[in-house]
Amino acid sequence: MQNALVLGASGMLSGLCMRLLEDDFQVFAVARTWESLERLQRSAGARADRLTTMALDYHDTDRLGRWIAHTQLMHGPVDRVFAWIHGDCESVLGTVDREVFAYRRNPWALHHIRGSRAAEGPYQRPRLSAICTYQEIVLGFALEQGASRWLTVEEIVEGIWRASLSGAGRSVVGEAGPPELRPHGDDMGEVRP
Ligand SMILES: NC(=O)c1ccc[n+]([C@@H]2O[C@H](COP(=O)([O-])OP(=O)(O)OC[C@H]3O[C@@H](n4cnc5c(N)ncnc54)[C@H](OP(=O)(O)O)[C@@H]3O)[C@@H](O)[C@H]2O)c1
Repeated sequence: MQNALVLGASGMLSGLCMRLLEDDFQVFAVARTWESLERLQRSAGARADRLTTMALDYHDTDRLGRWIAHTQLMHGPVDRVFAWIHGDCESVLGTVDREVFAYRRNPWALHHIRGSRAAEGPYQRPRLSAICTYQEIVLGFALEQGASRWLTVEEIVEGIWRASLSGAGRSVVGEAGPPELRPHGDDMGEVRP
């Protein structure tokens, strides 16, 4: 059985957690509040015994690091990480990398999910250990008969899942451009400092 850590697990990535559980993963889910994690537990139903949840602020990297270390000690090494991070992501990803590296010596995958504006910048691999396979998954938008809209949660989950299996360094879910067709309003992606 493989272990997947999901950061920002209880919002649009709830469906991804369910997909991972269906695929026999053990899932370690982090969100900010217990209320949202309790909903996630209920959605998992009979598979909830393979779901470990933790309410913490991932920007509190000391706490995040201690929890990842403890969870790996209890359940074994993390094989795959899906990270949807609002705000500064470098220190969060650095903490995840350090704790996973401390526990294993064979390759593992980090799927970094980013908002649509990331597609406008160059692909940049953060400073991570060499055994970490880093993949950037950019959430784009949908184009239908010349009009654009943000992706639905179902499209996001399916797109992330497919991208994670593709092995590509950078994947875009939906369309990345042209910029003038980007839907109005905010897709709430993180901003890289
Ligand atoms: N390109 C696109 O089409 C696109 C891109 C991005 C988003 N969207 C849409 O936007 C909607 C909202 O997205 P969203 O990201 O704001 O909300 P979300 O995906 O519904 O929730 C964000 C997740 O991160 C957790 N979280 C937030 N800050 C945290 C912190 N500091 N520490 C730990 N966990 C934290 C939240 O936990 P709590 O719930 O406990 O606070 C929640 O699990 C989505 O449903 C999606 O449809 C569309």
